[in-house]
Amino acid sequence: MRRRENSVILLCYPYAFSHKDFFMDYMKSIKLIDKLEASGTLEKEEFVFLLSHHTRETGEYLFEKARNVTNRYFNGYIYLRGLIEITNYCKNDCYYCGIRRSNRQVARYRLSPEEILACCDMGYPLGFRTFVLQGGEDAYYSDETVISIVKSIKAKYPDCAVTLSIGEKSYESYLNFFKAGADRYLLRHETADSLHYSRLHPLGQTLESRKSCLYALKDIGYQVGTGFMVGSPFQTKENLAEDLLFIKELRPEMIGIGPFISHHDTPFADQPSGSMESTLFVIGILRLMIPNALIPATTALGTIDPDGRARGILAGANVVMPNLSPQEVRKKYALYDNKICTDEEAAEGILQLREGVEKLGYKIKTDRGDFNPLNSKM
Ligand code: 5AD
Repeated sequence: MRRRENSVILLCYPYAFSHKDFFMDYMKSIKLIDKLEASGTLEKEEFVFLLSHHTRETGEYLFEKARNVTNRYFNGYIYLRGLIEITNYCKNDCYYCGIRRSNRQVARYRLSPEEILACCDMGYPLGFRTFVLQGGEDAYYSDETVISIVKSIKAKYPDCAVTLSIGEKSYESYLNFFKAGADRYLLRHETADSLHYSRLHPLGQTLESRKSCLYALKDIGYQVGTGFMVGSPFQTKENLAEDLLFIKELRPEMIGIGPFISHHDTPFADQPSGSMESTLFVIGILRLMIPNALIPATTALGTIDPDGRARGILAGANVVMPNLSPQEVRKKYALYDNKICTDEEAAEGILQLREGVEKLGYKIKTDRGDFNPLNSKM
């Protein structure tokens, strides 16, 4: 019967053959999205198929499911984190990153412990209950310094969570930061394929070391965030599928996904940036894979498109991270070109942000917004 229907289509339309293929691919994608929703994962080849046949229609189908899952687990709330970019000094030389060691054009800065605390002082009355201390790998911040910064924030604001995002450290350092009161740690794996990793980083930076840091952080008890860029140079659909499977294995509490955006003073200056659409698609997939994960609508997503962060929320993201860094350093923390530093992006624009989120049908939540493991069985 089906064969007969197909031959009718073939006779009727001059382009029916390609339409038929298109329809079959669409139907297969829909089935895969249903399977992903039901089981939380797919086989590698299935992810590759889904990513390779992404269309506006499959995107819409995925995003609706992702939104439903987000609403079920987070009740329409969007979580707030205050981002403090503590230093743009970095000993690493990642080929994609604007603050890489070899970039002599960067005006370097670092914030003193007092300046960091002043950022928290500004954020607290605005409703921030999580402070994310992010920076390059900068030896100025010895373990003792990090520990004392964490302790002073926690002493002054015991109802706040402190998230660190300061790169690869030893197990012992991570443990000491945790004992000092750090709650969470962000460290993107960047790519789960070691060959791809070696094309994005110089010799001496390895996927193996990145992964062992992530497992150490998990072992210690941090809420751990990982993630990657969509559309990074040389990235294949297979690489993306491996990223998704790695995330399924690690089970991070937080997942940061943004498009790669080229920076003019890096070896990747001429590489094309990733697209908003493919980034949104990956966010939707991850929401179905880890329903209770905290997934930010990242600054990079907002940079690639003015609607990026709103679209991120509508694709399943549930966290926003306005910038709490002092005004004068924001532009200097340029990992990529044209980073947004608008009022709405900055913490001062919290009212505007609240309005924007409410227009989408969500509400901003101003508590710590911890990962909720109890939800995972829902
Ligand atoms: N484009 C987009 N994201 C970038 N990052 C670094 N450089 C870029 C870029 N050019 C991301 C990396 C890093 C995070 C802090 O920022 O994934 O882990």
